[in-house]
Amino acid sequence: MRAAVIEHAGEPIRIEDLTLDGPREGEVAVRMLASGVCHSDLHVRDGDWERPGPIVLGHEGAGVVEAVGSGVESPRAGDLVALSWYAPCHHCAECGKGRDWLCTGSPSLRHRMADGTTRVHRADGGEILAYLSIGTFAERQVVPASAAIPMPDGMSAEAAALIGCCVTTGVGAALKTAELAPGTNVVVLGLGGVGLSIVMGAVIAKARIIVAVDRVPSKLEIARELGATHTVLAGDAATTIEAIKDATDGGPDVAFEAIGLPATIEQAIESLRPGGTAVLVGLTPFGQRASFEAFPLVDGGRRIVGSNYGSAVASVDFPRYAQLYLEGQLPIDRLIDRRIGLADVEATFDRMRRGEGLRSVVMFG
Ligand SMILES: NC(=O)c1ccc[n+]([C@@H]2O[C@H](COP(=O)([O-])OP(=O)(O)OC[C@H]3O[C@@H](n4cnc5c(N)ncnc54)[C@H](O)[C@@H]3O)[C@@H](O)[C@H]2O)c1
Ligand SMILES: [Zn+2]
Ligand SMILES: [Zn+2]
Repeated sequence: MRAAVIEHAGEPIRIEDLTLDGPREGEVAVRMLASGVCHSDLHVRDGDWERPGPIVLGHEGAGVVEAVGSGVESPRAGDLVALSWYAPCHHCAECGKGRDWLCTGSPSLRHRMADGTTRVHRADGGEILAYLSIGTFAERQVVPASAAIPMPDGMSAEAAALIGCCVTTGVGAALKTAELAPGTNVVVLGLGGVGLSIVMGAVIAKARIIVAVDRVPSKLEIARELGATHTVLAGDAATTIEAIKDATDGGPDVAFEAIGLPATIEQAIESLRPGGTAVLVGLTPFGQRASFEAFPLVDGGRRIVGSNYGSAVASVDFPRYAQLYLEGQLPIDRLIDRRIGLADVEATFDRMRRGEGLRSVVMFG
């Protein structure tokens, strides 16, 4: 099978022909249908995050189950599944509390199967890791069964793929991490697949004012089409913060950061009204720090919260988001503007570095 591999974090993608073993106990084999390209793949590609290699990149995918290993009750062969990039171990204390997104025993942390081995190999037998245990830039993969969530009838593979990362991350940040109440005023900084999904989540939550901010004008247009009530073309920090405060009557109740830059994280915190919450979703390169003025944070009872994977329990939330899509409440298709092949992923990374375009989706078969 063909797959997009990087030898080490920071190196370009190479398309390779690899061998794939069958699924073992608790695993399933998937024929990939679609995989979105997420900025987190770009972070690995650019060496922002140390990751072991060689590794098949990609973590926003969907496909059809071809075979299941022993002991697997769900999914079944033939199911369309959306793949979760954080397979819960079901044994650790966090899983016990139902907080799958904080699982400390997830195989995804090691980019291997639960038994510590890999199913992907080169012709010489050398092992290849799978990013977050799903490595979706591959024609086929073997993944933990707990990472493969069956989709309802009528679901499209492309939309299912995006539920695997940006939709769940963004909609979940709004509905689950922030628990947005009707009438809330929010700002979303950064309008990629993740930020636009936060806008869609805020619409579902019946937020009153939704301010969408990006440095690329075309992103503001699509945000408006998805339900943003105000848009701000990002300028210098002071001007941007002032524009956000103007639009929200003195500052938002909730400010979402979906870029991953210290400068915009600081803007999210600084724009808040008293009692407001900054929800940080964007991921910076390792080792970076952001700062805030301590007195107004304390005096104004403001809060800063991190949001991993939209606080998702994939087995519950993926089917729920798929249902909202089928009911026309989550227009996931609007996030997609390019269907590409594996060989085009590097060019997509170039566009993403410039903030151009919406979600590109690798289509297989
Ligand atoms: N917390 C999580 O669980 C989680 C999950 C998925 C992705 N992420 C992270 O979320 C971030 C966004 O991911 P994405 O795939 O949507 O990225 P993306 O590259 O598609 O979108 C980023 C957007 O930010 C805009 N932008 C860049 N610099 C800006 C600035 N200075 N001011 C205003 N806008 C600016 C770009 O124009 C672009 O529209 C990444 O850091 C990614 O790693 C986090
Ligand atoms: Zn992602
Ligand atoms: Zn766990």
